[in-house]
Parts: sequence; structure tokens; C-alpha cells
Amino acid sequence: MLSMKHPVSIICFMVLTACGGGSSGGGASSTTPPVSSSSVSTVSSSSSSSSSLSSSSSSSGSDLSLKALVDFPVGVAVNAGNETNSIFLENTAGIAQRAIIEQHFDQITAGNIMKMSYLHPDIDTFAWTQADALLDYAAEQNISVHGHALVWHSDYQVPNWMKNFPGDKAAWSDMMKTHVQTIAAHFSGRVESWDVVNEAFEENGSYRNSLFFQKMGSDYIEEAFINARAADPSADLYYNDYNLSPGDAKFLATLDMVDDFQERDIPIDGVGFQMHVYMGWPSISAIKASFQAVVDRGLKVKITELDIPINNPFDTTNYSFPNNYISELTPALAQQQKVRYCEIAKAYVDVVPAELRGGFTVWGVWDEDTWLINQIFDGKHIEWPLLFGHDFQPKPALDGVAAGLTGQACS
Ligand code: XIL
Repeated sequence: MLSMKHPVSIICFMVLTACGGGSSGGGASSTTPPVSSSSVSTVSSSSSSSSSLSSSSSSSGSDLSLKALVDFPVGVAVNAGNETNSIFLENTAGIAQRAIIEQHFDQITAGNIMKMSYLHPDIDTFAWTQADALLDYAAEQNISVHGHALVWHSDYQVPNWMKNFPGDKAAWSDMMKTHVQTIAAHFSGRVESWDVVNEAFEENGSYRNSLFFQKMGSDYIEEAFINARAADPSADLYYNDYNLSPGDAKFLATLDMVDDFQERDIPIDGVGFQMHVYMGWPSISAIKASFQAVVDRGLKVKITELDIPINNPFDTTNYSFPNNYISELTPALAQQQKVRYCEIAKAYVDVVPAELRGGFTVWGVWDEDTWLINQIFDGKHIEWPLLFGHDFQPKPALDGVAAGLTGQACS
């Protein structure tokens, strides 16, 4: 498979904006791209459709509530605070998003506003207002919160003061302790769980050469977990990453780290699988095997950032813009996406025992708001990776999740 690191760094460079450090999940470490499922047809078209496809099932619209179906968290990433498309806006987008959230989800993750630079903008400054407002809303709605993320290398997320922080390893260790403990303590008792460290490994299994790694070696990871546990003993602590595929060097390195933590009593409660996946990649058997490896260690499995776009920019056989890409969500494609969502949800409940289910979270409320359009598809065209369409209406994918979470056949 084609390494996804290269394309994503180009995207990050070109738009000079936030990037998930290659979180496209475009592929694992091998040399060919993950390709669309053979059942997914790629069409050539220059037309662009902004319509979305609503579910044919009326139950999705009015009666269905995902959160009522299961007894583990069903989560969604949200924009909040001053962000564009904040759920708190008193416009169509804000009102529609809140209605969707309150009907279907019992956990939220801040898509951005609980990241490093938002909460700790200067060395002596912590900024709580926007996150506290989100947590207040969640508490009012009886929705739990998954914190994301205490330590993340992504360039836009490392505050400038931190990038320029002087000092040796011991000084960095103290500074990071203050960062992690101050934030974890502030939200203690109000977040259910944290992504303590996000994306610490490269595809080849080496530690990512992040600022933290350069200053502290791999010790920054275990210190973050120790500090988070000390400041908030009740929160579940996750290591979170993308492309965690069985057999791949990155996943093996992750498991080695987990094993080492468990041997040395470094606190860790689970592994977060981002799951920025595609229609045909990875296979359900690979997804199941990666969940199983974490279950075998007695740790929780949490799907933290699921989205499933129709196009796959790393499938260079079937995708190139502007001549060869899918420009319309046809009923057939929406049906295929429903099955894909169902199979992933079903894989989760099939493999992960009840006591280890950390939750099932999609990365965004509705298709218009997906990070993929700007950061993976470079703003070139529309996409439909989520459960609600550009018109806020439920898509067949929503029924797929409902069926999968309840262990029904996927069709
Ligand atoms: C993304 C957000 O959705 C965007 O709004 C932001 O511009 C960049 O970050 N992996 C992660 C998330 O862990 O934090 C990223 O979120 C998506 C990839």
C-alpha cells in the first residue's frame, strides 16, 4: 500500500493548517494504496452534487436513538466554542446539530477545543471557558465527555511557547507534568476518559520524531500517562492512533508499548482506534484482529474517530481529481456505506466483550462538517463520510450503525 504519510504531509504543507499528522488512515506501511471495495464503483464525472441522501427508513428520522440501543458510549465529535459550525450557534447548523446530538449520542468529544493549544495557549495561561461551556452542555444533557488530547505532536496543536521552551530533559519533564496535570485536574470528575497521547508512532513502528520525542525520548509517553492518572484517577486513559492494523509495524510497536506499560505498571486503560477508514480498507477481518489483540491484553477498545468517505484518495487506480472521482452519493453507494458502517459496528460488538467497550464515536455530526473535505481531499470536492447528510437528514449509514451495534445482519 502507498504510504499515506507523504500525501498528507503535502496537504498539511499546502494548506498550512491543522493536520492529523497523516491521520487520513489512507493506508498502512506497505506499498500499494488501500483500494475501494470491489463493490464500490467509481464514476468519472465533472458534475458536482451537493445533495445528500436521506435514509429510506422513516425510523431513522423520528424514532431511532443510537444511544438507546447499547449500554456503552455512542459518541460524536463536535465543534464548539468559537469554531465555525459550533453546536452552540443559534442558526440552522447549531440547532440541527444539537437536535441530532441529543437524540442519538451520549458522549461527545471536542473536535478541537480541548487540544493543547486551545487549553494551554501560554506557559502560564490555561483557557477553560470554551471547554467548560461544552462540558456544562454535556452535563445538562446527561452526555459524557471523552477528552482529546493531552499530548499530540500536530504542528498547529503544539503551542508556540512550547515549541520555544528551553531547557533540558528534566525541565521538559516538569513542564509537561504541569501541562498534563493542570488540564487533567481541571476536568477531573467531568470527563469519562482521555486520549492521553495521540499518534506517537510512525508507520514503520519507530517513535514519531515529534518535539516531545526530541526533547524527552519515549519517556514523554509514559510520563503523560502517569501524570494523567495522578491528576484524575477516575478517568480511563487511552493511547490513540490511526492505521492500527494487525501485522503492521505501527500496531506491533503500539502493542509492544502497551505490554511494556502493563509489565511496569504504567497506567493505561485502553487503546483508541481512530478509524479514519475507507469503504474497502481495511478488511473487517483485519479490524477484528486488531480489536482482539487489545482485548487479549485486558484493555478497553474505543473507536474514537470513525468516518467512512465514499472516495479514497489513496486509491490511485480509481481516484484522481478532477477526472475520476465519485461526485454523487447515489442510492447504491449510500447502501454500500450503510453495510460498511454496519459491519464495523458489528465487528466491535462481536469482538469486544461488554466490560471492555470504551465506546463507538464518529468524527463529526453531519457530512458538511467533515475534516476530510479540507484536509484529505484538499477542499476539491464534496464528501459524505458521516451518518447525517449535508441537509442534516439521517442517511442509510445511521441505520447501518444501529443494526451493527445490535448485532443484526448487515444488508
Ligand atoms: C482534526 C479536526 O477534526 C479538524 O477540525 C482540525 O482542523 C484538525 O484535526 N486525528 C485526530 C483529530 O486525532 O484530532 C483530528 O481532528 C483528525 C485526525
